[in-house]
Amino acid sequence: MAERSVEKAKASTEAGLIAVSPRIVPKGFRVIESYSIREPFVRVAIARNDETGEILYLVDEVKLTRRERAIYQRIIETLEWELKPMEEAENPYEYFRKTAVKTVYKYRMRLGGIPGVSWAKILYYAERDILGYGPIDALMRDPNLEDISCDGYGKPIYVWHRHHESIPTNVMFEKEEELNEFILKLAHKAGKHVSTAWPILDAMLPGMHRVAATFSKEISTGGSTFTIRKFREDPISIVDLINFGTIDPETAAFLWMAMEYKMPALIIGVTGSGKTTLLNALTCLFRPTLKIVTIEDIPELRLPLENWVQLVARPSYSLGPEKIGEISLFDLVKVSLRYRPDVIIVGEVRGEEAYVLFQALATGHGGLTSIHAEDVDATVKRLTSPPMNIPEGYIPLMKLGMIIRRVRLFSDEHPAGRITRRVAGVYEVKQVGSYNRISLWDPYRDRFERNLKDSLILTEISETVGRSYDQLLEEVSRRSMVLRWMASKGIRSYRDVASIVHLYYADPWRMYRRAVEET
Ligand SMILES: Nc1ncnc2c1ncn2[C@@H]1O[C@H](COP(=O)(O)OP(=O)(O)OP(=O)(O)O)[C@@H](O)[C@H]1O
Ligand SMILES: [Mg+2]
Repeated sequence: MAERSVEKAKASTEAGLIAVSPRIVPKGFRVIESYSIREPFVRVAIARNDETGEILYLVDEVKLTRRERAIYQRIIETLEWELKPMEEAENPYEYFRKTAVKTVYKYRMRLGGIPGVSWAKILYYAERDILGYGPIDALMRDPNLEDISCDGYGKPIYVWHRHHESIPTNVMFEKEEELNEFILKLAHKAGKHVSTAWPILDAMLPGMHRVAATFSKEISTGGSTFTIRKFREDPISIVDLINFGTIDPETAAFLWMAMEYKMPALIIGVTGSGKTTLLNALTCLFRPTLKIVTIEDIPELRLPLENWVQLVARPSYSLGPEKIGEISLFDLVKVSLRYRPDVIIVGEVRGEEAYVLFQALATGHGGLTSIHAEDVDATVKRLTSPPMNIPEGYIPLMKLGMIIRRVRLFSDEHPAGRITRRVAGVYEVKQVGSYNRISLWDPYRDRFERNLKDSLILTEISETVGRSYDQLLEEVSRRSMVLRWMASKGIRSYRDVASIVHLYYADPWRMYRRAVEET
């Protein structure tokens, strides 16, 4: 059986995959995808069991021999002495490499040549463990992964892979202490504190990766746990969302109108459905001259705009019940009003900050936020109950609600289904219980049905800017054409999309003609 997996691993290499060591591929699995993370030290293979349909994420990393491990230990100890506080503005990787190479060199001189010892491998491990993320470094470097999570020691780490969804890996923290130490290291990297007295970590790692963790067995019975939501170097833009089929160009064009006129909007969805991503993508559609203040617990948003102030809440310093030093979302929404913002964006509303936000909407500010809920009714219920306590009469101030869902779609190409996101509905709010549907996603045909005939928002815009309703419908259709053109031309990065949107604001007809000519 083992031989068979060797054969299969070799066979897959012939099919154009990069070779991985057959010893990492368990019996009954074959490699269906493989790629390099860092040559020549670490590669990744995705393996599938055709009988059970199981998929595994396998890290293939060079191993240290026993002798190399002994040298590595000594070098790590020496390095801890040698690494001094860096000069300002020095790149930590460069600094580390310089010092590590010097240390290894000194050490090697002292030991003389040792046959069969790879100093490059030793350096790789030293960098991986001191600067990087140790056992999960390869996962952190793999751009295909969205989430990395560990449910406790002795259990495989799970990853959310862009093409394969949630799958187990061959990486594991075997011992309880090893995992505890790792959590302490994460806290240290994030510049935060975690201990048995305060066993919760909710923080941002360098590189803007979001981490949530629990420490030891204080509050998680299986030992420390963590989840890392990896930061995308290249944020998902509205054109990406069109390309992924998350939203259709007409609905996106309608939202573009709504954003231009600062119509308050609420994104509704459950955990990981893509609320923050959609919110960030919508910010590309604002006029570049608007003054925007964003308010978040953890700084996730990235706006392609200059006139932008980013405010971030701060947890309390104290470990006791008094929240000494805490700056909450509520405090930030209050202070944001002093900035005279055109639009206030709150990453996600959960508590009393929602009330201040609605008050800001009542005084004519634009607002954009998200909420954790399944649908419109559940959203209204949450908004009007403690701790948010929004009076029902205030609800229509939020003129637009859109629901985003993570759904599994079946097709001939994906008989087992594939996970994707869809903007399942866009609604205008007349009053509580009465909503005007602008767009609805049909799960059976995977199509969007739009109804722009009696839009409250377009009517309101028509009344304020003195353009007829039909002219506004034509405007929506021209914008959807521009969005389609960007999608077809591969203009997709959030900066490129924002610059086309800004050009459109400056000279709509010129941009539109270009889109028509080039389509
Ligand atoms: N439309 C999409 N298509 C593909 N991937 C997406 C899409 N939207 C979001 N993602 C990915 O899904 C993950 C979760 O997205 P996001 O952070 O936006 O969700 P969320 O609803 O804000 O989650 P949370 O409730 O944890 O705040 C991210 O890694 C993101 O890159
Ligand atoms: Mg979010």
